[in-house]
Formats: sequence, C-alpha cells, structure tokens
Amino acid sequence: MDELREKYLGAIAAAADEAALEELRLAAVGKKGEVSLKMRELGKMTPEERQVAGPALNALKDEINAALADRKVALADAALDERLKGEVLDVTLPARPRRQGTIHPVSQVTEEVTAIFADMGFAVAEGPQIEDDWYNFDALNIPGHHPARAEMDTFYMARGEGDERPPNVLRTHTSPVQIHSMQEQGAPIRIICPGRVYRCDYDQTHTPMFHQVEGLAIGKDISMANLKWVLEEFFTAFFGIEVKTRFRASHFPFTEPSAEVDIQCSFEGGTVKVGEGDDWLEVLGSGMVHPDVLRAGGIDPEEWQGFAFGIGIDRLAMLKYGIPDLRAFFESDLRWLKHYGFSPLDMPSLHAGVSR
Ligand code: DAH
Repeated sequence: MDELREKYLGAIAAAADEAALEELRLAAVGKKGEVSLKMRELGKMTPEERQVAGPALNALKDEINAALADRKVALADAALDERLKGEVLDVTLPARPRRQGTIHPVSQVTEEVTAIFADMGFAVAEGPQIEDDWYNFDALNIPGHHPARAEMDTFYMARGEGDERPPNVLRTHTSPVQIHSMQEQGAPIRIICPGRVYRCDYDQTHTPMFHQVEGLAIGKDISMANLKWVLEEFFTAFFGIEVKTRFRASHFPFTEPSAEVDIQCSFEGGTVKVGEGDDWLEVLGSGMVHPDVLRAGGIDPEEWQGFAFGIGIDRLAMLKYGIPDLRAFFESDLRWLKHYGFSPLDMPSLHAGVSR
C-alpha cells in the first residue's frame, strides 16, 4: 500500500496540467483504479485483515483526492500568474477618444427664444400633444365648418370600435395651450409655449412634425402696441442685430384684429439675410385675442384683453443658422448633427452688442 501511496502522490505533485491530473485520478481512485480494485478485495479478507486494510485504504483514497485538489489549485494559480506576466497594462497610454454629442438646432433655438422671453417676464407653459378637437379648434373659434379646419392637414387619431366621440387630433399648433393656460391660471397671464406640432405635409420647408412657440399676454390694458414692442425686442435680441418688422393686416379665427409679421431681409445670391435689404419675410401670426377665445378659457372679455402670437421655431433656426432644408432636421444623420449642432456651452449672450 505504501508503494501505491508513493507512486500516486509523486505523480500528482509532478502533473503538468489538468488533463494529466484527470488521468491520474482515474488510474488511482476511478471505478477501475488501483485503489478501488484493492477496496473490492476487502471482501475476500479475514475480518482481522479487513480491520487493518479497510481504514488504511480509505485514508489513502482521501489522501489522493486531497492531493489532486491541491495540485489543481496550484496549476490554476500558476496559469493566472503566467497570464498576468504577459498582459501589461500601460497606464500612460492616452484614452480612446469618445464622441461627444451636440445640441440639436431646435433645442438650441428653443433655449434662446425661452431666455429672451424670460427676460421680458414670460413664463414657459406646456400642453398635451394629443388634443381633442375642442381644444385644437372650437375653443379657438374655429367651428366645424370653418375652412381653417380643413386647411390644417390634421392628423386624426382613430377611436376604439363603437366609440362615437369625435376623434382626438395631434395638435396642429401650439395655440390650444392658450386655452389650457387660461383655464388653469386665469388672468393675468404672460406665457410662451414652445413645443411640437403636427401636420400632414412634407417638402423642403415642411415636415409632419415641427415646432412652434406660442405667446400669450393677458392683462387689463394690453394692446397691439405692446405686441409690437415685444416682437421687435425679440427679433433684435434673437438675431443680434436690429431687425425692422412689418405688420400686415391678416385674419386668424382666434384673434381680432389679426396681423402677420414680416421681418426685413435680403434674398441676394440665393441666401436669405435677415436685418438688411428691402425684402420682407413672413415669420409669424399674431393679433389681439378674440373675445370668444377668452370666454372659452373662462376669462371675461369685458374685463381682460391681450395679445397672442405663434412662431415656427424650426423656421427661426433655418434663418439664423443658414440651414437650407427642414427635412434634414429630423433625419438623425450624425454628420448633419455634427455640422449644425451646438456644444452645450454655446448660449449666445443675450442683447450683446445691440443698441437701439
Ligand atoms: N396658430 C397659428 C398657426 O399655427 C399661428 C398663430 C397665429 C398663433 C396667430 C397665434 C396667433 O397665437 O395670434 O398657423
């Protein structure tokens, strides 16, 4: 038995890898291993012999198993040491460059617009993008038969089967936020509402989703003159140069009187330059809030009055930053975003260098 012991413990200590260990295990304590075979012979022994040989064989088996386990751990440790010697970590290597994202022109311009109006005391209000047709149309004095309802290229949202209510719509403008704000806070009001709007339309200057900012100021004696001052102040701050404006009589169902506002520009050489030249570019709709709209919002038109306006944010971004095609705004092309995007610190200082 001592022979077996020496033979196997020696071989295990010298085994070079796990495969060699496994071979030794089978040869010693496997089913047909030498130790196992000896154990089978116990039955043929006299009780006296068995009393000596049994415990000795069991002890030998345990010893061999323990040696196998120890050697296995030692081999794994050695392999890890070997690997660590080969894999050198050079902490002086420069880090791999990480691609930095950019601020989308729409986000940038929304921030700029918000900051300018905040300077003039306007708070930001938001409303839902899914409206029922009362908020999007009726409350804004656009009744069912009104042509403006058809002109808007509205996206209607199907109701469930058997649901007789008129369909909800994706809001076609930010004007319904006027109504929500009137209902929620009552007069007086001074807010802007930037956000997404939807119309079924697609070409170089139209996408099915785009952005507007609505403005609303309600007070006891707010007039068209206040509207004019606020908008001129806004354009001058936004474009960073003094910009002439032209108010043209127009019609919107939700304002009376209504005006479309143009800004001074030149179209020379196929590019639009704001604040110079003799041409005019239409940029927004505005007017004095219609009494019916005030009433829909729960405000008494005998006591309160105010102005409203709506501007296209994407349009402003195209004008200010010379971006030719609106569709590219929403295609998520990383090359475009890198070219037209802004670094997070690119907030132009407001009113800088503008004297009036
Ligand atoms: N809601 C109009 C549109 O989307 C824009 C507009 C015009 C808003 C006149 C107003 C306004 O608040 O007074 O075409």
